[in-house]
Amino acid sequence: MKFKKKILCIGAGYVGGPSMAMIAYKCPDYRITVVDTNPDRIDAWNSPELPVYEPGLDKIIKKTLGKNLFFTKDIENQIKENDIIFVSVNTPTKTYGAGAGMAADLQFVEKTARQILKHSRSSKIVIEKSTLPVKTALAMERILASGKGKITFEVLSNPEFMAEGTAISDLENPDRVLIGSHETKSGLKARAELIEIYARWIPLEKIITSNIWSSELSKLVANAFLAQRVSSINSISALCEKTDADISEVAKAVGMDSRIGDKFLKAGIGFGGSCFKKDILNLVYLCSYYSLQEVAAYWESVVKINEYQQERFTANILKNMFSTLTEKKICILGFAFKANTGDTRESPAIYITRKLIAEHAEVIISDPKALKNAAIDLEGTKGNVKYIEDPYRAVAGCHALVILTDWDLYRKLDFQKIYNSMAKPAFLFDGRNIVDHRKCFSIGFNVYPIGKPALSHFKT
Ligand SMILES: NC(=O)c1ccc[n+]([C@@H]2O[C@H](COP(=O)([O-])OP(=O)(O)OC[C@H]3O[C@@H](n4cnc5c(N)ncnc54)[C@H](O)[C@@H]3O)[C@@H](O)[C@H]2O)c1
Repeated sequence: MKFKKKILCIGAGYVGGPSMAMIAYKCPDYRITVVDTNPDRIDAWNSPELPVYEPGLDKIIKKTLGKNLFFTKDIENQIKENDIIFVSVNTPTKTYGAGAGMAADLQFVEKTARQILKHSRSSKIVIEKSTLPVKTALAMERILASGKGKITFEVLSNPEFMAEGTAISDLENPDRVLIGSHETKSGLKARAELIEIYARWIPLEKIITSNIWSSELSKLVANAFLAQRVSSINSISALCEKTDADISEVAKAVGMDSRIGDKFLKAGIGFGGSCFKKDILNLVYLCSYYSLQEVAAYWESVVKINEYQQERFTANILKNMFSTLTEKKICILGFAFKANTGDTRESPAIYITRKLIAEHAEVIISDPKALKNAAIDLEGTKGNVKYIEDPYRAVAGCHALVILTDWDLYRKLDFQKIYNSMAKPAFLFDGRNIVDHRKCFSIGFNVYPIGKPALSHFKT
């Protein structure tokens, strides 16, 4: 078959895989290829067990894989063959040298730019899909312009706003698609080419354009604002616990103000995932770099509150279980950083579990999709840890149940059956406020939600 457009994506991760699968699904006359330096990832995309769990992803992959969507290890030839290249490589927080623990590690982006330059035999549009510090496109342009031939590269910024767990519906029906470009003739031409791809299924009024720097910065700011709402409501949950106010009632009253809105106002153990923390720290670093210390401190406090919330939750478990967890069995329900994903990167569960183990608790971890990643995260942590997928088997004989992920299935558990199988007194710490606390209390649990009065059977 002759394809109308040929598109390459470098980076076959949580973003590259699903976003390219969606383009392939919506544009059957385009040929989409995804490459990665990690051969296992490529093999997994070509196998029945995909490397990423997302509701609905397997259906789209089934419809496109081998037809107009291809995952391959041959980076060199694919760069030669394709004239539109998305860059969706990882941009983790730097762990060494200047900016360690704050700045984005741009080594993978830079290597990608050098690969593109080395193997290109014709001019190309290079699209940043990774989340990057503002002005990264300039560095990419400088690398790409260092070749000797007549080949030219037009760099665009097209940050990805999908969220894990809802990636497929976000990609199919996004709030907006943002395309940043230069306002030059070639920049506008490249922009038009990218708009043409998205316009296949996204209404034009949702495809917005800007200059490259606004586009790069918008992605960091969007994540910072989302995380800031989580930290704002979590900070108030601490006050609720001191004052007998109820965080759900406060969030409802506040969120019904149309100027504020009700999204991202759910108190819990804090945000996780590969993006929020790293992107805020990246923003903090950028502000410090430009000597905006007050602005940097403002955004850094969002991360500090997130850490505080996890510390507070863990200290609460210890205090309420008579200040000792030694040899007590604690069942963790949920290890993924949120529901509907197997991703555990920066999951609050990692910190909380390590703290419980440090208190010599015996920990049993249950999760429908994240047990493999949990075992990798806790590798090398000395202590007694077991992994059991079935929540009923996991909790049997435990002294406490700790809910850390908002999986829907946990809402529907038979808590009477669970209570009957546990050691007494039985404790329930609901880090996501997802179960019926009064009902669990009446069954016999001592219940400790977030930002609400505890429901305890102990006489004070
Ligand atoms: N995960 C999310 O929900 C999400 C959402 C929006 C944006 N983002 C951003 O998208 C980018 C990618 O995130 P991700 O979660 O997909 O990361 P990921 O780690 O899952 O995937 C990145 C992939 O790029 C590959 N890679 C790195 N250097 C390469 C190179 N030179 N050539 C070929 N492949 C290379 C890695 O092997 C890896 O498989 C990041 O900048 C992230 O901040 C992520």
